[in-house]
Amino acid sequence: MAHMPRLVTLLLLVTEHASGILFKPCLKPRLRPRFGLKRCRRRRRRFIRPPPNPLPLYLGVMGAPVYGRDILPFLGGLIDFEALEPRSSPNEYLAAPVDAAPLFNDTAKRIVAPTYPVSAEELRTSFENALAKRQPFNGDFWAKPVQEDSDAFASRFVYVERTPLFRFPDVVNVQFLEVGNGTSTLILHSASVYGLDDLGKNRERVEDLLKRISDLPANMTATAVSV
Ligand SMILES: *[C@@H]1O[C@H](CO)[C@@H](O)[C@H](O)[C@H]1NC(C)=O
Ligand SMILES: *[C@@H]1O[C@H](CO)[C@@H](O)[C@H](O)[C@H]1NC(C)=O
Ligand SMILES: *[C@@H]1O[C@H](CO)[C@@H](O)[C@H](O)[C@H]1NC(C)=O
Repeated sequence: MAHMPRLVTLLLLVTEHASGILFKPCLKPRLRPRFGLKRCRRRRRRFIRPPPNPLPLYLGVMGAPVYGRDILPFLGGLIDFEALEPRSSPNEYLAAPVDAAPLFNDTAKRIVAPTYPVSAEELRTSFENALAKRQPFNGDFWAKPVQEDSDAFASRFVYVERTPLFRFPDVVNVQFLEVGNGTSTLILHSASVYGLDDLGKNRERVEDLLKRISDLPANMTATAVSV
């Protein structure tokens, strides 16, 4: 249900293929009546012929390893949160400290990120674990960044998470920030590449990830316990 607009796109692809099958091929030149109305319209048929296998083609496009790598702007890439403005479409969601991402002024698409009692490096480990656990299998493979910009105090990473069946790519940008005294926080942005309305999918993802991170193992919340 959550992928209704995307399903419609897929159905259109399949229907196009079906109409191509219904379109009868023309007779071989030998069999063609010499003077008749049934002349082969080669040019027109070639023009209408659909791609041979729309489903593999479609999944190939969706599953291509090009997303989140700054290859083309609309395929997603490393975000500069200082300059990030909200899109006109609702297919994104942000969690950030109040003073981060100052131009992202759409409060409906933004929540405040918590501070965690671990270093930024540990927070990253915890984040990747959370990301991996969201996948039904092969989680560790999907929880690796496709791009990163390492900085001791504010390292940025891009991850790509795909929907299970149709492999729609959603691009996740994270910046891990040291707050001081062994605590850290993050800026977490999730956005879809395809489809204008994500039906709350990005919001769900951001909230789920934050919740999973806060379920840290006991030894990672030692700072809070020992005080
Ligand atoms: C956000 O900022 C832009 C540009 O400064 C402005 O046009 C827009 O009205 C603002 N939106 C909100 C919800 O404040
Ligand atoms: C770190 O802790 C010390 C002592 O408790 C405090 O004086 C200092 O302001 C704290 N620094 C930050 C960044 O919270
Ligand atoms: C926390 O404990 C787990 C399992 O006991 C261990 O694998 C992990 O490395 C520990 N993390 C830290 C930061 O000590």
